[in-house]
Amino acid sequence: MDVDPDKLSSFMGKMLGEFGAALNASLVMIGDKLGLYKTLAAKGPMSSAELAQATNTSERYVREWLSAQAASGYVEYDAASAKFSMQPEQALALANEDSPYFMGAIGDLVSATFLDEPKISDAFKTGKGVGWDRRSECLFCGTARFFRTGYKHKLVQEWLPALDGVVEKLKRGAKVADVGCGHGVSTRLMAEAFPNSQFFGFDYHPGSIDTARRLANDAGLGERVRFDVHSAKTYPVGDYDLICFFDCLHDMGDPVGAMDHARQTMAADGTCMLVEPFAHDRLEDNLNPVGRVFYCASTVICTPASLDQEVGLALGAQAGEARLREVANKAGMKRFRRAAETAFNLILEARV
Ligand SMILES: C[S@@+](CC[C@H](N)C(=O)[O-])C[C@H]1O[C@@H](n2cnc3c(N)ncnc32)[C@H](O)[C@@H]1O
Repeated sequence: MDVDPDKLSSFMGKMLGEFGAALNASLVMIGDKLGLYKTLAAKGPMSSAELAQATNTSERYVREWLSAQAASGYVEYDAASAKFSMQPEQALALANEDSPYFMGAIGDLVSATFLDEPKISDAFKTGKGVGWDRRSECLFCGTARFFRTGYKHKLVQEWLPALDGVVEKLKRGAKVADVGCGHGVSTRLMAEAFPNSQFFGFDYHPGSIDTARRLANDAGLGERVRFDVHSAKTYPVGDYDLICFFDCLHDMGDPVGAMDHARQTMAADGTCMLVEPFAHDRLEDNLNPVGRVFYCASTVICTPASLDQEVGLALGAQAGEARLREVANKAGMKRFRRAAETAFNLILEARV
């Protein structure tokens, strides 16, 4: 085999960067969990001793962590003063939970993939699935926090207005089902924005529904928001004006059955909104950084989730619009269009 030394050197350089990023994922989780990024962003420039004191942590660990973050380009280091700080751009991504660029939850998600790896390796051999109920706890909160960034800044402002006539109904008073709602981030955001409407969150994972109930209660949303344990094919008929699937249709074993149930449970002129990971229809067009994140997540999270359920269609997180249209059409939703998109999401409107 002829080896091109330049190509080898460049690939080894890439692999070195990947190795550092992979190792730093747990440090991101530590910094997020212990408030190191948030404190540094708010109070920096700081020495390691000052950051340790402000966060009630041990200086020796914090010094090593800061060095790793500076080498990663996640924080800045000033050799003259021996102090660390964060640029506004770094703070938006790592220290500000409410910013449209927050990525601080990636450590939780990466950690869940490692904790669950033995189950996934086993599933590769058996071909069986790994259900949401068998996953590590940090997957649930990591998912909720990671997706919250997009939902908080786009859902009420751009995605709902892109649907035909839906905002008018929500303002007047509509019934909404949020299927596969997880911790109910999307349900709460919609409920806060539309006080005349009623919201029903359904998820087949009891632990997620417990958390969704607690968070809605803490938010003081009262009787207008209700969460129940139900699969996408068993929640009660409700003449819903809007049925939403946020980043979950492709996780389901029977997405056609789920959309068919949505068709049967919604009002005659109801709307079904699918929020799915952004993808083109062909693999070769998804070979980019966004596609990489979603194919990786799909291999260890979404595909095993779907294969664990009846039918086990395993659409994958890069299904693309054409495949999703096919699913909707098979479920009797003939009107289908791309209502909006972001770098990370496709927002699709399906109607009978
Ligand atoms: C990637 S998470 C998304 C959660 C939430 N919608 C969000 O955007 O934060 C996928 C969710 O789908 C739920 N789910 C998967 N299959 C389901 C099914 N057949 N019926 C109901 N919920 C399901 C899981 O329990 C999980 O909460």
